[in-house]
Amino acid sequence: MNNNISLIIIFLFGLIVNAQNKNSYQKEVEILLSKMTIDEKIGQMNQYNGFWNATGPEPVGGDASKKLKNLKSGLVGSMLNVRGVEEVRAIQKIAVEETRLGIPLIFGFDLIHGYKTIAPIPLAESASWDLEEIKKSAALGAKEASAAGINWTFAPMVDISRDARWGRVMEGAGEDPYLGSLIAAARVKGLQGEDLSSPHTIAATAKHFAAYGFIESGRDYNTVDIGVNTLHNIVLPPFKAAVDAGVKTFMNSFNDLNGIPATADSYLQRDILKGLWGFDGFVVSDWGSLREMIDHGYAKNKNHAGELALNAGSDMDMESSIYLQEIKKLLVDKKVSMEQIDDAVRRILKVKYELGLFDDPYKYCDLDRESSITNSNEINTGALEMAKKSIVLLKNQKKLLPLKKSGQKIALIGPLASDKNSPLGNWRIAAENNSAISVKEGLEAFKGNIIEYSQGVRLVNKIPEGFHEEVQINNTDKTGFEEAKIAAKNSDVVVMVLGEYGFQSGEGRSRSKLDLPGFQQELLEEIYSINPNIVLVLMNGRPLVLNWANKNIPAILEAWHLGTQSGNAIAQVLYGEYNPSGKLPMSFPRSVGQIPIYYNHKNTGRPGADGEDAGSVFWSHYIDEKNSPLFPFGYGLSYTSFNYSNIELNKNYLENNDDDYLIASIEISNTGDFKGKEVVQLYLHDKYASAIRPVKELKGFEIIELDPGKSKKVSFKITKKMLEFYYNKNDWISGWGAEPGDFDLYIGTSSATKRKIEFELLK
Ligand code: NOJ
Repeated sequence: MNNNISLIIIFLFGLIVNAQNKNSYQKEVEILLSKMTIDEKIGQMNQYNGFWNATGPEPVGGDASKKLKNLKSGLVGSMLNVRGVEEVRAIQKIAVEETRLGIPLIFGFDLIHGYKTIAPIPLAESASWDLEEIKKSAALGAKEASAAGINWTFAPMVDISRDARWGRVMEGAGEDPYLGSLIAAARVKGLQGEDLSSPHTIAATAKHFAAYGFIESGRDYNTVDIGVNTLHNIVLPPFKAAVDAGVKTFMNSFNDLNGIPATADSYLQRDILKGLWGFDGFVVSDWGSLREMIDHGYAKNKNHAGELALNAGSDMDMESSIYLQEIKKLLVDKKVSMEQIDDAVRRILKVKYELGLFDDPYKYCDLDRESSITNSNEINTGALEMAKKSIVLLKNQKKLLPLKKSGQKIALIGPLASDKNSPLGNWRIAAENNSAISVKEGLEAFKGNIIEYSQGVRLVNKIPEGFHEEVQINNTDKTGFEEAKIAAKNSDVVVMVLGEYGFQSGEGRSRSKLDLPGFQQELLEEIYSINPNIVLVLMNGRPLVLNWANKNIPAILEAWHLGTQSGNAIAQVLYGEYNPSGKLPMSFPRSVGQIPIYYNHKNTGRPGADGEDAGSVFWSHYIDEKNSPLFPFGYGLSYTSFNYSNIELNKNYLENNDDDYLIASIEISNTGDFKGKEVVQLYLHDKYASAIRPVKELKGFEIIELDPGKSKKVSFKITKKMLEFYYNKNDWISGWGAEPGDFDLYIGTSSATKRKIEFELLK
């Protein structure tokens, strides 16, 4: 048989099997549903946080014993934060063996950037722009977590944000909806894999639906007020990309959107998500977000909150117990319908079937697998690769980097230089405290130089106990300065590791200032006055304000919170074993007052030359600061240099149909001394439209690698689809389209590029 024919047969067979699976799940779900009492149905919609140590004594009294009783009565569909094979197995056993129908639980966990082996924070990974590596990182996280009993993660967070004050920007992909959409899809595919029923893959969650990244003033849990254009063009695309990638669940968000709490927003959940996008998975609320609608001033009481949430399409209640307490009454009172309840339960059961939990509820509970996969070499090697690719070189003067490998005296200074906890970042519930490789350890693994370490500024409360402990970088004690200054004086080069402690970004960690916390700025300036040969290594979960450092410090490396392998990755980059290739996924402001700051802004009716005297005060600017960011979106250097030339289009018009396309190309040469990677970026600008378009929008990129002296032509295909945007006409369903007219096309090394060429979309 000819190869093509056999491929077609295999493909058709695959389709049939797939269709049968889907249908059989439908049948199984219906059969099961028909056997369920109303209480059991409501139970599936109830999710509890972990409540006792299954391997230890059972607690008596209080919340825990009530939860246990409910579990035994089949009133729990899912648990979160229960982890480890033994614990998961013990709890699953109760659900399967002690409840009437034996429906297995689905175990959720915040696998945000690694389980025990911690990967770089998502914002850092996004700086790699390397979709395959990001997908692999998610897959490795899923492999480790699933070996510990977990089968569902509350990730990826796909919230676009333009506000670095919000501590949760560390969990997302930054400010751009195009990059954010690609990364959302990569993460979903990595977590869920090709086969969700494999014991190595888990169900993913796109969160937080929606607009959580647009909370006012960057203050966590605050209100959101945005227009429909921003909602559809900026906020929703990554969620849609997650649906297209097959994401199994969604989580709604704490915030209200234009006066309606997301948990009760049926436009978002029923009309858009389940209606327009055809999402057939389930929606879990955020932690207690049903109950919080009372504080929002939207629900009168718990009963009302339950009514609002279910009517709006929230299928599972995380930790409010409101569905458990109220739905039956709501049904009797005809405030909710049996169809709504059945729909929610069907969605939940379907995902459990797809995970294979009905075939084997203990499939994620294999002790041997847990011990062989946890912290394995494979996962650590992946974390190291991802970490190296996440680093962004912000500045490199005097050729300070890469460091010479021998004959140097290096002073290693800073509160984070030997810290083994901060690199783990914020979401690392299952990781051992202080389990990261520190920069000190990473540098010491290279033997050729003498390293003299001095902390300079101490951490207050060095070892955090528990998740919510606040560790601060000292701002009362400067006694470490003197020793650090002596170390700096006696060295050829100073490596300073400064930034945010691991828990200074993340949920509930909004900041009103974005400078280096504690005495770090003072330390930096004092060391600089003694030895200006400083390489500043930054560890942080969000863009910081770095004006002084950028003006004075010759070399700056953005190393985020890079996870378990942090120190190794940083050392390899400092020594040039890996040439940095990351690009910022978020603009770094010059001052907090510029926020929200983002590259894809509108031009306004009074634009001006940035920072120049426009001859009048009456244009859109600050009198005390430039409009532009300090480091723009897409920015990042390499140890080598790249030259862009000959931007070209094969023709300067695009026919107004789906088949025509343009080819835009550019020549890139490695003009430096090192082999290096470059993220070549394509931006478009729709010059006039029925709703104003941003000055630039990322529409494509390609990562290339070039040897010194070599060149490459990079081409992008431009189609009409890429020119589409959502315009606010009354009919929101048909609001996407491309409008004929003139476009600028930019190709460059960052969003600040000015290299452009024009074309027209014909009528
Ligand atoms: C609240 C957070 O907003 C959400 O992202 C997380 O998944 C849940 N807590 C569960 O931990």
